[in-house]
Amino acid sequence: MDRILEPELMDDPKQAAAYAQADFAEENQAFVECFKEYFPEFSQGLVLDLGCGPADIPIRFAKLYPSCRILGIDASAPMIQLGEQAVKQTGLADRITLRCERLEEVAGARIVDAVISNSLLHHLPNPLQFWQKLRQLVKPGVPVLVTDLLRPESPEAAQAIVDQYAADEPDILRRDFYNSLLAAFTEDEIGSQLARMNLTRLLIDIPDDRHWVVGGIIY
Ligand SMILES: C[S@@+](CC[C@H](N)C(=O)[O-])C[C@H]1O[C@@H](n2cnc3c(N)ncnc32)[C@H](O)[C@@H]1O
Repeated sequence: MDRILEPELMDDPKQAAAYAQADFAEENQAFVECFKEYFPEFSQGLVLDLGCGPADIPIRFAKLYPSCRILGIDASAPMIQLGEQAVKQTGLADRITLRCERLEEVAGARIVDAVISNSLLHHLPNPLQFWQKLRQLVKPGVPVLVTDLLRPESPEAAQAIVDQYAADEPDILRRDFYNSLLAAFTEDEIGSQLARMNLTRLLIDIPDDRHWVVGGIIY
């Protein structure tokens, strides 16, 4: 099945609210713990979360790493508003900054000590812009952890995944999950992107039937 793009930004307020209210606690906690397993030596600095959404991962990251500051970027104004409320409620506003900005427009070079990103890449028409920006923003020798959905082999297989893992979710979330699966990349496509960007030090792992993980130190 070829990739079918979905709208790039999640900037419909209802869509952003449904996403923020969904229970991604287990998945998001697993993401930050996966970072700790990949990079046991890492402890401090400025961490960039690309496509941070409603900031659940920046909050969990800040709690796990008390010596880190987190900068979350997302180009959806409703997502950033929800994220700012959540950050304020947790009292972490001194260490988490959120910016409503397209990742392609983030300025600077060699400014961050780690990059994290979950479930963003499938939104992008041109994924190479993501890897290029990531490479531009990191200091040499820092950890990178990127995860996202895997594209199934057919629309029927995508529907089966939605039915298996999101049976009880609201329609809007089930629709977005289905569209995201169709827009996602395959393992081979991610491998080609890394090769084209000369990022083959980053390794791809497929932890389950619907996700890929790319992690490693970037120079
Ligand atoms: C599926 S959400 C993931 C949010 C968060 N990372 C999480 O795991 O909960 C993807 C987010 O990427 C944002 N996004 C898509 N394209 C973007 C771009 N070019 N620049 C910045 N954010 C973007 C969307 O607005 C959306 O909030």
